[in-house]
Amino acid sequence: MCGIVGFTGRQQAAPILLDGLEKLEYRGYDSAGIAVAQAGGAEPSIEIVKAKGRLKVLREMTDDGRSVSGTCGIGHTRWATHGEPSVVNSHPHYAKNKRVAVVHNGIIENYQEIREKLTKEGFSFVSATDTETVAHLLDKYYTGNPIEAISKVMFRVRGSYALGILFADRPGEIYAVRKDSPLIVGRSEQGNFIASDVPAILKYTRDVCFIPNLEIVKLTAVEIHFYNVDQEEVEETFSEINWDTEAAEKGGFAHFMLKEIYEQPKAVRDTISPRISDGHVDLEELGMSREELAKVSRLQMVACGSAYHVCMTARYMVEQTARVPVDVDLASEFRYRNPVMEKDTLVIVVSQSGETADSLAALREAKKLGYRVLGIVNVVGSSIAREADSVFYTWAGPEISVATTKAYSTQLAAVYLLAIGLGKAKGVIGEAQETQMVEELLRLPEKIERILEEKERIQWFANKFSHSKDIFFIGRGLDYASSLEGSLKLKEISYIHSEAYAAGELKHGTISLIEDGILVVGVATQKGLFEKLISNMVEVKSRGAYVLGVTSYGNYSMEDVANYTIYVPKTMECFAASLVVVPLQLLAYYVALGKGLDVDKPRNLAKSVTVE
Ligand code: M6R
Repeated sequence: MCGIVGFTGRQQAAPILLDGLEKLEYRGYDSAGIAVAQAGGAEPSIEIVKAKGRLKVLREMTDDGRSVSGTCGIGHTRWATHGEPSVVNSHPHYAKNKRVAVVHNGIIENYQEIREKLTKEGFSFVSATDTETVAHLLDKYYTGNPIEAISKVMFRVRGSYALGILFADRPGEIYAVRKDSPLIVGRSEQGNFIASDVPAILKYTRDVCFIPNLEIVKLTAVEIHFYNVDQEEVEETFSEINWDTEAAEKGGFAHFMLKEIYEQPKAVRDTISPRISDGHVDLEELGMSREELAKVSRLQMVACGSAYHVCMTARYMVEQTARVPVDVDLASEFRYRNPVMEKDTLVIVVSQSGETADSLAALREAKKLGYRVLGIVNVVGSSIAREADSVFYTWAGPEISVATTKAYSTQLAAVYLLAIGLGKAKGVIGEAQETQMVEELLRLPEKIERILEEKERIQWFANKFSHSKDIFFIGRGLDYASSLEGSLKLKEISYIHSEAYAAGELKHGTISLIEDGILVVGVATQKGLFEKLISNMVEVKSRGAYVLGVTSYGNYSMEDVANYTIYVPKTMECFAASLVVVPLQLLAYYVALGKGLDVDKPRNLAKSVTVE
């Protein structure tokens, strides 16, 4: 989604803004711009420079920012929602007379109505965006007090927003406000910052505050003040971000995605180890006693995209391990379906960013209905982390590539820990089984490392299929959940049409799509379902499919059917998803690479989907 960065301090702002925007490129964008306050002339003014396409165009236009003077400014990368990607629609937007400049993430839902009214009042619009209405509204309400004008705008607009604002007559000051769209402030010796995401300012400071919802912030080079919507000053606390800058750099890898695939052993280890004490799973951080856990009668899991696939895995895994029924919903569906849930249901929202609009809305819906919500979240201090009753952090570190890999793997690890804790609290699993499961959990990172050592085999195979038109993934049970993830990974970065099916469903329609040479990936790690899956692979092969088998070492009969087989180390069946996903990620990566695509920034996609 769009990215925001702002700086006010003692150094030239434009190079810092461009640098920050570059760190947000991974979020996805189609145009970019900066606005810098000019205090020097006869009258203070705001200079805006914008460009369609990649940031390098903006860099060229401004000599890497050097040609834009001024020490206070805001910048934006836009991912088009209202109006096509173009210079005129890109941010920042001026208000009439260039008195105000605004950058915006989110969507103003009632912008049409406001636009019509303002037009009748004599305001003229140059862009097709919802954001320009905010610029004009600010101009309309501004009579010398920015906080008052912003608060009036907050009462007038509906929707979600994170706004960075400059007033021409207040050079050196940045104003920011947010509702349901993330925005942080950071402070440092050189000056103060706003940003939509931590990596944008990590190079300059780790001392940040996640702006609470519906709060306004005023920043100067040396001060930061927070206000509520009633314009009263409020105190906020800052916290230290412990991600280091290197974690957000490629570190010698060709792409963030490959780097993050390689970071999985560490990420999984970092997520599991702190929750194991004396060989037992310790879920103290949930703030739920063993009795409270034992009382949980049902899990309602909600998420989007890959995080939803984690929930699908959890359905199989938790039901087997803890004998607790698990319902799984896409957050975009859950939030509107007025769900019927039994009293002791624990709602679990899974999200890497902690800012996904639908997941956040689902969380709020569940809380409104009176349910306890647990967030499985990667970004510390994000909206879902703050609004959930308890948080279980996945310690994946910053994930930059749009296609999630290490965050997915840590979400799986989190689910395993919860399943064991729940099973234990309910008396479904005993000490011996817990010990066995914990020991195996701790071995997963090393097993992932072993798969990575064989990446060339997958690369070789991927190159053969990088020009496919369609690729299918099939599996049963847990392997069906892994197939869903393998298919999503492939399609999102390679643009090859792909579907995943529960293998038993093939005969109910999909098999008619199978034709000569089509690649079908069969995932088979579950002993009781292995033969069934093999039969399904035979069915597609006999209709011309080229079959890739993904299974565990030992299941060598796979080679009787598959044209090519990839083996992963043996593990307990309930943890197999953590291993089979690695070759599926590598397959997607190398297919996309073979097609020469921008692996880390696939078209039309954004890392964090903060609008509905
Ligand atoms: O930040 P979240 O985990 O809430 O994001 C959910 C999805 O948008 C995300 O998993 C998406 O599907 C990934 N791009 C998949 O690789």
